[in-house]
Amino acid sequence: MIDDSINHEYIIRYIRDVLPARTGLLAELEQFAAENDVPVSQPETMRLLEVLIKLGGRKRILELGSAIGYSAVCMARAGGAAVDTIEINPDAADYARRVFKKAELEDKITLYEGGAQDILPRLCADGKRYDMIFIDAAKAQYGLFFDYCMELLENGGLLVSDNVLYKGMTATDDLVLHRKRTIVKRLRDYIEMLCEHEMLDTAIIPIGDGVAVSVKNNKPNGV
Ligand SMILES: C[S@@+](CC[C@H](N)C(=O)[O-])C[C@H]1O[C@@H](n2cnc3c(N)ncnc32)[C@H](O)[C@@H]1O
Repeated sequence: MIDDSINHEYIIRYIRDVLPARTGLLAELEQFAAENDVPVSQPETMRLLEVLIKLGGRKRILELGSAIGYSAVCMARAGGAAVDTIEINPDAADYARRVFKKAELEDKITLYEGGAQDILPRLCADGKRYDMIFIDAAKAQYGLFFDYCMELLENGGLLVSDNVLYKGMTATDDLVLHRKRTIVKRLRDYIEMLCEHEMLDTAIIPIGDGVAVSVKNNKPNGV
């Protein structure tokens, strides 16, 4: 296993070998993240997002959790989408802002510095709407962000939630570390809520650390 990954090492190595390697700024960010223990989306997860963006022609994306700006740059480049991204850590936010400038994406990417729990109500009040939302912030808080995300998401929009299988701990008690019990319980509640929600169709994809992809319907399921 690589880094407690949910997939076999030979599968991950194969996928990473066969996907074209990143170059330039994205390669630098991957290296910086690896050397400094910055948690950025795994390469195969990022490719899934890029395909989803291109497939649906997504043009207005919201991200919760920018870190150093790696995924925001990937998403903005994928389909020329405008990306709003929220980051609570001031140092990470500073770094991400420099990255967006270097990538010449300052006109495409807007960084909101602060907690998503504070920024999301402001975006709702401003009448913002998105056709894709990528949740990649504190895992224990996904449930707190959900109602705001549903309000901000257009009908037909995608809600993509990363790390939902959390090193496999979400799927089996056998792997749950004692200190992670609360996060795991909240992730399980979150996944159940996604799967049962009448306005969402959800797929859980065991790639990276587990990705839930939900599409918002304009009417309750089964109607
Ligand atoms: C996994 S990293 C994001 C990685 C990034 N999406 C990427 O793939 O390049 C999670 C980030 O979420 C931020 N974060 C955690 N809780 C947050 C919150 N409540 N609001 C906004 N950002 C938060 C952390 O500071 C961290 O930088």
